Amino acid sequence: IRVAVLFGGRSAEHEVSLQSARNVIAAIDPERFETILIGIDRDGGWYLNDQSRPLLTADNLKLVALNQRAQPTSLLASDQQGLLMSDGQAMGLIDVVFPVLHGPYGEDGSVQGLAKLANVACVGSDILGSAIGMDKDVAKRLLRDSGIAVADYMVLRRHQLNESIGQQVSEKLGYPVYVKPANMGSSVGVSKVTCDAELVAALRHAFDYDIKVLVEAAVVGRELECAVLGNDEPEVCDVVGEIIADEQFYSYDRKYIEAAGAKLQIPADVDAPTLARLRQTALQAYQCLEARGMGRVDMFLTPDGEVLVNEINTLPGFTAISMYPKLWQASGVAPRELVTRLIELALD
Ligand code: DAL
Ligand code: MG
Repeated sequence: IRVAVLFGGRSAEHEVSLQSARNVIAAIDPERFETILIGIDRDGGWYLNDQSRPLLTADNLKLVALNQRAQPTSLLASDQQGLLMSDGQAMGLIDVVFPVLHGPYGEDGSVQGLAKLANVACVGSDILGSAIGMDKDVAKRLLRDSGIAVADYMVLRRHQLNESIGQQVSEKLGYPVYVKPANMGSSVGVSKVTCDAELVAALRHAFDYDIKVLVEAAVVGRELECAVLGNDEPEVCDVVGEIIADEQFYSYDRKYIEAAGAKLQIPADVDAPTLARLRQTALQAYQCLEARGMGRVDMFLTPDGEVLVNEINTLPGFTAISMYPKLWQASGVAPRELVTRLIELALD
Protein backbone atom coordinates (compact mmCIF):
# COMPACT_ATOMS: atom_id res chain seq x y z
CA ILE A 1 0.00 0.00 0.00
CA ARG A 2 1.49 3.28 -1.09
CA VAL A 3 1.04 6.10 1.39
CA ALA A 4 1.82 9.64 0.31
CA VAL A 5 2.72 11.87 3.24
CA LEU A 6 2.02 15.51 2.48
CA PHE A 7 3.93 18.00 4.59
CA GLY A 8 4.94 21.65 4.83
CA GLY A 9 2.31 23.66 3.06
CA ARG A 10 1.34 27.26 2.62
CA SER A 11 -0.17 27.91 6.02
CA ALA A 12 1.50 29.72 8.89
CA GLU A 13 1.92 26.31 10.54
CA HIS A 14 4.42 25.20 7.87
CA GLU A 15 7.25 24.42 10.30
CA VAL A 16 4.90 22.71 12.73
CA SER A 17 3.83 20.48 9.87
CA LEU A 18 7.45 19.59 9.07
CA GLN A 19 7.98 18.62 12.72
CA SER A 20 4.81 16.53 12.70
CA ALA A 21 5.71 14.91 9.40
CA ARG A 22 9.04 13.72 10.67
CA ASN A 23 7.33 11.76 13.40
CA VAL A 24 4.57 10.42 11.18
CA ILE A 25 7.08 9.27 8.53
CA ALA A 26 9.15 7.53 11.21
CA ALA A 27 6.04 5.76 12.52
CA ILE A 28 4.91 4.31 9.18
CA ASP A 29 5.44 0.55 9.18
CA PRO A 30 7.84 -0.18 6.28
CA GLU A 31 6.73 -3.81 6.21
CA ARG A 32 3.19 -2.84 5.33
CA PHE A 33 3.44 0.50 3.59
CA GLU A 34 5.58 2.19 1.01
CA THR A 35 6.07 5.84 1.89
CA ILE A 36 5.96 8.50 -0.79
CA LEU A 37 7.06 11.95 0.34
CA ILE A 38 5.32 15.01 -1.00
CA GLY A 39 6.71 18.26 0.37
CA ILE A 40 4.91 21.54 -0.20
CA ASP A 41 6.91 24.71 0.24
CA ARG A 42 5.62 27.97 1.67
CA ASP A 43 4.71 29.22 -1.78
CA GLY A 44 2.71 26.14 -2.62
CA GLY A 45 5.31 24.39 -4.81
CA TRP A 46 4.99 20.60 -4.65
CA TYR A 47 8.02 18.28 -4.57
CA LEU A 48 8.10 14.53 -4.88
CA ASN A 49 10.30 12.14 -2.89
CA ASP A 50 13.98 13.13 -3.11
CA GLN A 51 13.04 16.58 -4.34
CA SER A 52 11.04 17.08 -1.16
CA ARG A 53 13.85 16.14 1.19
CA PRO A 54 15.43 19.61 1.37
CA LEU A 55 12.25 20.73 3.10
CA LEU A 56 12.97 18.36 5.95
CA THR A 57 16.47 19.66 6.69
CA ALA A 58 17.28 20.90 10.16
CA ASP A 59 17.22 24.54 9.09
CA ASN A 60 13.72 24.35 7.73
CA LEU A 61 12.49 22.30 10.65
CA LYS A 62 13.62 24.91 13.12
CA LEU A 63 10.72 26.67 14.74
CA VAL A 64 11.24 30.38 15.22
CA ALA A 65 9.18 32.84 17.21
CA LEU A 66 6.33 34.18 15.13
CA ASN A 67 7.63 37.74 15.03
CA GLN A 68 11.06 36.62 13.83
CA ARG A 69 9.93 34.77 10.76
CA ALA A 70 11.32 35.50 7.36
CA GLN A 71 9.00 36.34 4.52
CA PRO A 72 7.92 33.28 2.58
CA THR A 73 10.39 32.27 -0.07
CA SER A 74 10.43 29.35 -2.40
CA LEU A 75 12.82 26.76 -1.04
CA LEU A 76 13.96 25.27 -4.29
CA ALA A 77 14.70 26.74 -7.67
CA SER A 78 11.62 26.66 -9.85
CA ASP A 79 13.17 24.32 -12.41
CA GLN A 80 13.43 21.72 -9.66
CA GLN A 81 9.74 21.73 -8.98
CA GLY A 82 8.30 18.25 -9.28
CA LEU A 83 4.80 19.48 -9.89
CA LEU A 84 2.68 16.58 -8.92
CA MET A 85 -0.58 17.62 -10.47
CA SER A 86 0.72 18.49 -13.90
CA ASP A 87 2.60 15.24 -13.79
CA GLY A 88 -0.66 13.46 -13.11
CA GLN A 89 1.07 10.10 -12.83
CA ALA A 90 2.10 10.56 -9.25
CA MET A 91 -1.47 10.59 -7.94
CA GLY A 92 -2.13 7.41 -9.85
CA LEU A 93 0.65 5.72 -7.90
CA ILE A 94 -0.84 6.56 -4.55
CA ASP A 95 -3.29 4.48 -2.52
CA VAL A 96 -3.67 6.79 0.46
CA VAL A 97 -2.79 10.41 1.15
CA PHE A 98 -1.76 11.25 4.70
CA PRO A 99 -1.98 15.03 4.88
CA VAL A 100 0.31 16.05 7.71
CA LEU A 101 -0.61 19.63 7.02
CA HIS A 102 -1.96 21.98 9.65
CA GLY A 103 -4.13 25.00 9.06
CA PRO A 104 -5.59 26.37 5.81
CA TYR A 105 -4.73 24.54 2.55
CA GLY A 106 -4.41 21.23 4.32
CA GLU A 107 -6.61 20.85 7.36
CA ASP A 108 -9.53 22.76 5.86
CA GLY A 109 -10.91 20.38 3.25
CA SER A 110 -8.90 21.61 0.28
CA VAL A 111 -6.45 18.71 0.13
CA GLN A 112 -9.25 16.36 1.13
CA GLY A 113 -11.17 17.57 -1.94
CA LEU A 114 -8.13 17.11 -4.15
CA ALA A 115 -7.77 13.53 -2.92
CA LYS A 116 -11.44 12.89 -3.52
CA LEU A 117 -11.20 14.21 -7.08
CA ALA A 118 -8.17 12.01 -7.69
CA ASN A 119 -10.03 9.02 -6.22
CA VAL A 120 -7.37 8.49 -3.57
CA ALA A 121 -8.18 7.65 0.08
CA CYS A 122 -7.24 10.31 2.58
CA VAL A 123 -6.34 9.99 6.26
CA GLY A 124 -8.52 11.97 8.63
CA SER A 125 -11.71 13.89 8.09
CA ASP A 126 -13.39 14.33 4.74
CA ILE A 127 -14.03 17.70 3.09
CA LEU A 128 -16.94 18.63 5.31
CA GLY A 129 -15.46 17.62 8.66
CA SER A 130 -12.17 19.30 7.79
CA ALA A 131 -13.82 22.54 6.75
CA ILE A 132 -16.04 22.61 9.82
CA GLY A 133 -13.17 21.87 12.17
CA MET A 134 -11.01 24.57 10.64
CA ASP A 135 -13.58 27.33 11.05
CA LYS A 136 -13.90 28.05 14.75
CA ASP A 137 -17.10 30.04 14.24
CA VAL A 138 -18.96 27.39 12.24
CA ALA A 139 -17.73 24.67 14.62
CA LYS A 140 -19.01 26.55 17.66
CA ARG A 141 -22.40 27.12 16.07
CA LEU A 142 -22.78 23.40 15.42
CA LEU A 143 -21.58 22.51 18.91
CA ARG A 144 -24.06 24.93 20.47
CA ASP A 145 -26.81 23.49 18.32
CA SER A 146 -26.02 20.04 19.77
CA GLY A 147 -26.26 21.34 23.32
CA ILE A 148 -22.49 21.31 23.86
CA ALA A 149 -21.33 24.35 25.84
CA VAL A 150 -18.87 26.76 24.22
CA ALA A 151 -17.43 30.10 25.35
CA ASP A 152 -19.38 33.25 24.46
CA TYR A 153 -17.95 34.95 21.42
CA MET A 154 -18.48 37.49 18.68
CA VAL A 155 -17.54 37.25 15.02
CA LEU A 156 -16.04 40.25 13.25
CA ARG A 157 -15.24 41.03 9.63
CA ARG A 158 -12.76 43.72 8.76
CA HIS A 159 -15.38 46.32 7.85
CA GLN A 160 -16.75 46.04 11.39
CA LEU A 161 -13.56 47.47 12.83
CA ASN A 162 -14.76 50.86 14.02
CA GLU A 163 -14.47 53.17 17.01
CA SER A 164 -17.26 51.56 18.96
CA ILE A 165 -15.80 48.07 18.73
CA GLY A 166 -14.23 48.25 22.19
CA GLN A 167 -17.54 49.22 23.71
CA GLN A 168 -19.37 46.44 21.90
CA VAL A 169 -16.85 43.88 23.12
CA SER A 170 -16.88 45.08 26.70
CA GLU A 171 -20.69 45.15 26.77
CA LYS A 172 -21.18 41.77 25.19
CA LEU A 173 -18.26 39.81 26.62
CA GLY A 174 -16.25 41.84 29.14
CA TYR A 175 -12.46 41.53 29.37
CA PRO A 176 -10.28 39.56 29.12
CA VAL A 177 -11.02 38.16 25.68
CA TYR A 178 -9.10 36.11 23.16
CA VAL A 179 -8.92 37.43 19.61
CA LYS A 180 -8.41 34.67 17.05
CA PRO A 181 -8.41 34.25 13.29
CA ALA A 182 -11.38 31.98 12.53
CA ASN A 183 -9.28 29.59 10.44
CA MET A 184 -5.86 28.97 11.92
CA GLY A 185 -4.05 26.72 14.35
CA SER A 186 -1.20 26.58 16.86
CA SER A 187 -2.44 29.93 18.27
CA VAL A 188 -1.02 31.78 15.25
CA GLY A 189 -2.55 35.27 15.18
CA VAL A 190 -4.12 34.85 18.61
CA SER A 191 -3.88 37.51 21.32
CA LYS A 192 -5.18 37.78 24.84
CA VAL A 193 -6.73 41.23 25.30
CA THR A 194 -7.31 42.63 28.75
CA CYS A 195 -8.62 46.13 27.96
CA ASP A 196 -10.07 48.33 25.23
CA ALA A 197 -6.71 49.87 24.44
CA GLU A 198 -5.25 46.56 23.27
CA LEU A 199 -8.21 45.47 21.21
CA VAL A 200 -7.70 47.12 17.82
CA ALA A 201 -4.08 46.02 17.49
CA ALA A 202 -5.09 42.46 18.35
CA LEU A 203 -7.88 42.52 15.79
CA ARG A 204 -5.58 43.85 13.09
CA HIS A 205 -3.06 41.15 13.91
CA ALA A 206 -5.74 38.45 13.61
CA PHE A 207 -6.99 39.97 10.33
CA ASP A 208 -3.47 39.45 8.93
CA TYR A 209 -4.36 35.77 8.87
CA ASP A 210 -8.05 35.62 8.03
CA ILE A 211 -11.00 37.61 6.78
CA LYS A 212 -13.06 36.46 9.76
CA VAL A 213 -12.02 36.92 13.37
CA LEU A 214 -13.45 35.64 16.65
CA VAL A 215 -13.48 37.59 19.89
CA GLU A 216 -14.01 35.05 22.64
CA ALA A 217 -14.72 35.51 26.33
CA ALA A 218 -11.81 34.06 28.30
CA VAL A 219 -12.96 30.99 30.22
CA VAL A 220 -11.69 30.65 33.77
CA GLY A 221 -10.81 27.02 34.09
CA ARG A 222 -8.45 24.20 33.24
CA GLU A 223 -7.50 23.32 29.65
CA LEU A 224 -7.98 19.64 28.93
CA GLU A 225 -7.54 17.72 25.71
CA CYS A 226 -8.87 14.42 24.54
CA ALA A 227 -7.86 12.28 21.54
CA VAL A 228 -10.45 10.54 19.36
CA LEU A 229 -9.78 7.88 16.71
CA GLY A 230 -12.17 6.25 14.29
CA ASN A 231 -14.89 6.67 11.70
CA ASP A 232 -18.45 5.62 12.49
CA GLU A 233 -17.65 4.16 15.89
CA PRO A 234 -14.83 6.32 17.18
CA GLU A 235 -12.81 5.53 20.27
CA VAL A 236 -11.70 8.05 22.85
CA CYS A 237 -8.33 7.75 24.57
CA ASP A 238 -8.41 6.39 28.14
CA VAL A 239 -6.74 9.42 29.67
CA VAL A 240 -7.07 13.14 29.11
CA GLY A 241 -4.19 15.59 29.01
CA GLU A 242 -3.91 19.00 30.60
CA ILE A 243 -2.11 22.12 29.45
CA ILE A 244 -0.55 23.87 32.42
CA ALA A 245 0.02 27.34 31.02
CA ASP A 246 0.02 29.43 34.24
CA GLU A 247 -1.27 32.96 33.78
CA GLN A 248 -0.15 33.37 30.21
CA PHE A 249 -1.99 31.67 27.45
CA TYR A 250 -0.78 28.74 25.41
CA SER A 251 0.66 30.82 22.58
CA TYR A 252 2.64 29.63 19.57
CA ASP A 253 5.91 30.61 21.22
CA ARG A 254 4.97 28.93 24.50
CA LYS A 255 4.04 25.79 22.60
CA TYR A 256 7.02 25.41 20.38
CA ILE A 257 9.77 27.90 21.19
CA GLU A 258 10.20 28.63 24.87
CA ALA A 259 12.06 25.99 26.82
CA ALA A 260 10.09 26.92 29.91
CA GLY A 261 6.83 27.11 27.98
CA ALA A 262 3.60 25.47 28.96
CA LYS A 263 3.69 21.98 30.42
CA LEU A 264 1.61 18.99 29.45
CA GLN A 265 0.25 16.81 32.22
CA ILE A 266 -0.67 13.29 31.10
CA PRO A 267 -2.80 11.91 32.54
CA ALA A 268 -4.53 14.98 33.86
CA ASP A 269 -5.43 14.84 37.51
CA VAL A 270 -9.23 14.58 37.30
CA ASP A 271 -11.64 12.34 39.21
CA ALA A 272 -13.37 9.43 37.49
CA PRO A 273 -16.76 11.12 36.91
CA THR A 274 -15.04 14.18 35.41
CA LEU A 275 -12.87 12.00 33.20
CA ALA A 276 -15.99 10.23 31.96
CA ARG A 277 -17.70 13.53 31.20
CA LEU A 278 -14.69 14.89 29.35
CA ARG A 279 -14.40 11.73 27.25
CA GLN A 280 -18.12 11.73 26.53
CA THR A 281 -18.09 15.41 25.53
CA ALA A 282 -15.09 14.86 23.25
CA LEU A 283 -16.89 12.01 21.52
CA GLN A 284 -20.08 14.04 21.10
CA ALA A 285 -18.14 16.98 19.71
CA TYR A 286 -16.26 14.73 17.29
CA GLN A 287 -19.48 13.28 15.93
CA CYS A 288 -21.36 16.56 15.88
CA LEU A 289 -18.54 18.16 13.88
CA GLU A 290 -18.49 15.33 11.29
CA ALA A 291 -14.91 14.36 12.10
CA ARG A 292 -13.50 11.07 10.85
CA GLY A 293 -10.18 9.30 11.28
CA MET A 294 -8.81 11.41 14.07
CA GLY A 295 -9.39 14.53 16.08
CA ARG A 296 -8.15 16.19 19.23
CA VAL A 297 -10.90 17.89 21.15
CA ASP A 298 -9.74 20.78 23.32
CA MET A 299 -11.95 21.61 26.28
CA PHE A 300 -12.22 23.77 29.37
CA LEU A 301 -13.26 22.57 32.81
CA THR A 302 -14.56 25.41 34.95
CA PRO A 303 -14.23 25.51 38.75
CA ASP A 304 -17.99 24.70 38.87
CA GLY A 305 -17.37 21.51 36.94
CA GLU A 306 -18.82 22.70 33.63
CA VAL A 307 -17.19 21.28 30.48
CA LEU A 308 -16.96 23.63 27.49
CA VAL A 309 -15.52 22.68 24.12
CA ASN A 310 -12.91 25.11 22.82
CA GLU A 311 -12.27 23.48 19.45
CA ILE A 312 -11.47 20.37 17.47
CA ASN A 313 -8.25 19.81 15.53
CA THR A 314 -8.83 17.40 12.69
CA LEU A 315 -5.11 17.15 11.85
CA PRO A 316 -3.63 17.55 15.32
CA GLY A 317 0.09 18.07 15.76
CA PHE A 318 2.43 15.08 15.84
CA THR A 319 5.44 17.10 17.00
CA ALA A 320 7.58 16.09 19.96
CA ILE A 321 5.40 18.22 22.26
CA SER A 322 2.07 17.32 20.72
CA MET A 323 -0.72 15.93 22.82
CA TYR A 324 -2.48 13.66 20.30
CA PRO A 325 0.19 10.95 19.94
CA LYS A 326 1.10 11.27 23.63
CA LEU A 327 -2.49 10.66 24.71
CA TRP A 328 -2.65 7.50 22.61
CA GLN A 329 0.72 6.35 23.87
CA ALA A 330 -0.55 6.81 27.43
CA SER A 331 -3.65 4.83 26.46
CA GLY A 332 -1.53 1.94 25.18
CA VAL A 333 -1.43 2.80 21.47
CA ALA A 334 2.15 3.38 20.31
CA PRO A 335 2.87 5.69 17.34
CA ARG A 336 3.37 2.83 14.87
CA GLU A 337 0.03 1.29 15.74
CA LEU A 338 -1.64 4.70 15.74
CA VAL A 339 -0.38 5.57 12.26
CA THR A 340 -1.26 2.10 10.96
CA ARG A 341 -4.79 2.46 12.29
CA LEU A 342 -5.16 5.91 10.77
CA ILE A 343 -4.16 4.59 7.36
CA GLU A 344 -6.49 1.61 7.72
CA LEU A 345 -9.35 3.92 8.70
CA ALA A 346 -8.76 5.94 5.55
CA LEU A 347 -9.04 2.76 3.45
CA ASP A 348 -12.12 1.58 5.35
N1 DAL B 1 -2.70 23.06 15.16
C1 DAL B 1 -1.76 22.26 15.91
C2 DAL B 1 -0.84 21.55 15.01
C3 DAL B 1 -2.43 21.34 16.84
O1 DAL B 1 -3.61 21.46 17.01
O2 DAL B 1 -1.78 20.50 17.41
MG1 MG C 1 -6.42 24.34 16.81
